[in-house]
Amino acid sequence: MTNRTHEEALKNPVFSTISDAAKELSLDSYVIGGFVRDHLLQRGTPKDIDIVAIGSGIELAKLVAKKLPGSSEVSVFKNFGTAMIKFQDIEIEFVGARKESYHRDSRKPVVENGSLEDDQKRRDFTINALAISLNSRDYGQLLDPFDGIGDLKRQLIRTPLDPDITYSDDPLRMMRAIRFATQLNFIIHPESLQAIADNKERIKIISNERIVDELHKILASAKPSLGFSLLHETGLLPFVMPELVALEGIEEIEGQRHKDNFWHTLEVVDNISQNTDNVWLRWAALLHDIGKAPTKKFDKKIGWTFHGHEFIGSKMVYKLFKRLRLPLNEKMKFVQKMVLMSSRPIVLSEDFVTDSAVRRLIFDAGEHVEDLMTLCEADITTKNPKKQKRYRNNFKIVRQKIEEVEERDHIRNFQPPISGEEIMKTFNLKPSKEIGMIKEAIKEAILDGEIPNEYKAAYTLMLRKGEEMGLEGN
Ligand code: CTP
Repeated sequence: MTNRTHEEALKNPVFSTISDAAKELSLDSYVIGGFVRDHLLQRGTPKDIDIVAIGSGIELAKLVAKKLPGSSEVSVFKNFGTAMIKFQDIEIEFVGARKESYHRDSRKPVVENGSLEDDQKRRDFTINALAISLNSRDYGQLLDPFDGIGDLKRQLIRTPLDPDITYSDDPLRMMRAIRFATQLNFIIHPESLQAIADNKERIKIISNERIVDELHKILASAKPSLGFSLLHETGLLPFVMPELVALEGIEEIEGQRHKDNFWHTLEVVDNISQNTDNVWLRWAALLHDIGKAPTKKFDKKIGWTFHGHEFIGSKMVYKLFKRLRLPLNEKMKFVQKMVLMSSRPIVLSEDFVTDSAVRRLIFDAGEHVEDLMTLCEADITTKNPKKQKRYRNNFKIVRQKIEEVEERDHIRNFQPPISGEEIMKTFNLKPSKEIGMIKEAIKEAILDGEIPNEYKAAYTLMLRKGEEMGLEGN
């Protein structure tokens, strides 16, 4: 396989342009990294292309941009010796081959020019160090000095150099190793895993933005628990998300035990990942129980309780998002809302499911009621088949009821059928608390099912309430 030509990977016309430009500059060039890896794994057409030049990557980028009609201007990152151009929806990144060594306290490398192999061995993993030649003498040939092909076959994440050096050079690679293992369902080589555990503290020099990028990718994978168990196993998790670590463990007092909420959470995340690609809903699954650590109590009569964990948990979501520099926007509010409401459907389903309880659930969850149900269904991790069946059935009933009630009462995007202005006009009122009271009474009556969500019924109720409050009509 190594000697086979890989010209079929180079169908995109940009490659022949790069090849021509490199020839004009009398330098060698190669496509390297994720593009080659994903081509060999047949993971669809990769979006980004990394080019390594034996010489100046910046000069090569400039000439390619000149030769490639429709390409963007060259963005030059002088400090890194790299340059980037955009062509259609592809980003092409150029770098000169280098020998690198890193300072202990930063990811900024000290760079010297080097050969292709120097460059390959300074890369993170053997599967990311694969290169295909763009030189006319051996166009399409795969260059694989560290048996990346073998590791692709063995499904192995392994570093080209001693893993201690590779991870210490750039500690972000510890997160990357775990992320690739999760995305590709690969194993991390035991020595690599040990090196991650040994170097875990060095993750502190990595910015939260970059860590979150990797967490996002882990969460977006088919089975995110693979990544989170590796973060746990290597000891990285306490640095990244201590809130999750706090959920680990089972305590027993007077023969009463609670479940291990860390491992439970990972199950919930895997469950939900089978039913949604919405990464924010997956975040909600990951964080739905974080309030359980600070609220855990033992009560002699009722055993273990986690009172108010949903509320505390939703507050913790804000702190965690802020610390990890996740967006503090409507995505965060969505996650908070899911965490806050995460016990509502189960409480509802334990009882006889009434229309008014369902109406309140739809009112509170609004447009996110389906997502909430998806979260709650994923939350069923009991191994007791009878209980499992009962919960599933109950949720089915809740879902049915949601549909029925929604069709009839249109609560999801609830708009009060009577406006504040109309109340003011009817009773000749200035803005005052009476208006709020009447509006609230109408909303409550609709949610309780006393009146339908319609103008006429709401109008009649408004008159009656006004009369009870001693207001005079116009
Ligand atoms: N690389 C590295 N160390 C890093 C980041 C990147 O050695 N910390 C090298 C790897 O050879 C990698 C290439 O740079 O393949 C490109 O990096 P990047 O675009 O971040 O990742 P990809 O491998 O392309 O994968 P993905 O797009 O899935 O992130």
